[in-house]
Amino acid sequence: MSEIVIAIDGPAGSGKSSVSKQAARRLGYAYLDTGAAYRALAWDLLDRGVDTDDAEAVTGALAGFDYSISIDPDDYWVRVGDVDVTEAIREPRVSGVVSQVARVPEVRSTVTALFHRIIAEAPNDGIIVEGRDITTVVAPDAQTRILLTAAEEVRMARRSAELTGESTARVAEQLQKRDRADSAVVDFMTAADGVTTVDSTDIGFDETIDRVIGVIRGDA
Ligand code: C5P
Repeated sequence: MSEIVIAIDGPAGSGKSSVSKQAARRLGYAYLDTGAAYRALAWDLLDRGVDTDDAEAVTGALAGFDYSISIDPDDYWVRVGDVDVTEAIREPRVSGVVSQVARVPEVRSTVTALFHRIIAEAPNDGIIVEGRDITTVVAPDAQTRILLTAAEEVRMARRSAELTGESTARVAEQLQKRDRADSAVVDFMTAADGVTTVDSTDIGFDETIDRVIGVIRGDA
């Protein structure tokens, strides 16, 4: 079981997944991408033909959700049943419905319980858990809690550089829409009490990781 839990929240395109994964590598910690669980569920519902706008149908389908995720930052994968969905859950058709799915209260409680089990069973000394409600709901007692932010234009630019075949305007529109929908469910734009903000607007990837590790180590 992990002795140390590091909670990192932030909006889409803040770089939290890549920063958290790399920080976990450097510290020898496990890494849990919670957004991937919501995405895997959205993928599964689309695959099963469940109407993602119908909260009751989504709740009813939860019992059949068979998901597993690697918490090894060097060997990251996500599966639904025995299907590897690591790449498929990043597709725009999944990003387009995931917020609808994630706002259903039964989804949040079921998925949060899964996270608690994964955190409790992680064999490493520590685990970095990243998402939207980790510092406030999933692990409010974490030793270190960080909000990773970046200016909106920078987040849009980073995300469109990652996605090929999508226009910058389309990426920006989808990201803004998703942020708006997600913020109505949990506030991940402002740091809760005791949460340290790391703003990556004007700093590169490596420096962001250094800052995050500095906060984890308790440097001034
Ligand atoms: O982090 P990522 O952008 O992959 O998350 C995908 C979606 O999962 C978010 O847009 C949000 O709807 C949901 N999510 C959430 N709570 C978390 C992590 C993700 O609601 N802790």
